[in-house]
Amino acid sequence: MLNKKIVCVVNDTVLPESGLKSEHGLSMWIEGPQGVALWDSGGSGEVLRHNLKALGLDPGRIQALALSHAHDDHTGGLDYLLQVNPDLPVYAHPDIFQPRFSRKNGEYRSMGLPERCAVLKNAPNLRLNDLPILLMPGLWTSGKIRERKELEGRSANHFIRMDEDWHADPYRDDMSLILEVSGGIILICGCCHAGLLNTLRQVKQRFNQPVKAVLGGTHLISADGAAVRHVIRVLKDEFPGTCYYLNHCSGEDVIQRMEEAFVGCVKRFPAGTWLEINEDGLFYCK
Ligand SMILES: [Fe+2]
Ligand SMILES: [Fe+2]
Repeated sequence: MLNKKIVCVVNDTVLPESGLKSEHGLSMWIEGPQGVALWDSGGSGEVLRHNLKALGLDPGRIQALALSHAHDDHTGGLDYLLQVNPDLPVYAHPDIFQPRFSRKNGEYRSMGLPERCAVLKNAPNLRLNDLPILLMPGLWTSGKIRERKELEGRSANHFIRMDEDWHADPYRDDMSLILEVSGGIILICGCCHAGLLNTLRQVKQRFNQPVKAVLGGTHLISADGAAVRHVIRVLKDEFPGTCYYLNHCSGEDVIQRMEEAFVGCVKRFPAGTWLEINEDGLFYCK
């Protein structure tokens, strides 16, 4: 199998002295022999453009954009990407157009797509689907995470508006990516609002391959101590040998707990770090 590479382009933290800009958001460059896909677009076109340039990554090479969910820290660079390539295929869950809100001090503010609805709805290659879709050989969307028996990656301040009332966001649009690699698969998360264990179990059932690594935001930031202990116990039981490259909304405390539980198998994944993948394994680079 030829080399593949996953580069963190936008994140809340960046590699020191990298010249990259940080912002609350996420975007990752996924490159293989078949081409380049971008996972999420960060929180703004400005930071996405700056970081791509600083990393020497040409946005004109992106052949597919997949959006993990509607939140503006993942969709903020959409306008920029569609300016660079108006015909860019964009993959997302059909529920991505549902307006989202965050609540602070009793006030609700839009944090979904509304101001970008037009640009996305008019994208000529918009591909909405709640089933797993092949973006390019070896790279799939997870599709909708249907069974959610385990803890979801929730925030008490995320809402949707329905029947003239506020309701907790069901995060129906939340998806992850699956990259097939030598000897298994890699799970690439956005915020993983659907829940890390729920997502991993569905992916394991569908692909029936060892999960070599989990990358991205896992939204365990709001989980209490008992919940984190449970997640770690299940990960050990059901996903032995998995490595974790965590960033965005994973939560620093949780990353430290994971480091203690999975010694040598947990890394932070700020913007400017990347993972090289070949038939000999996975190699963390910075
Ligand atoms: Fe989110
Ligand atoms: Fe996020």
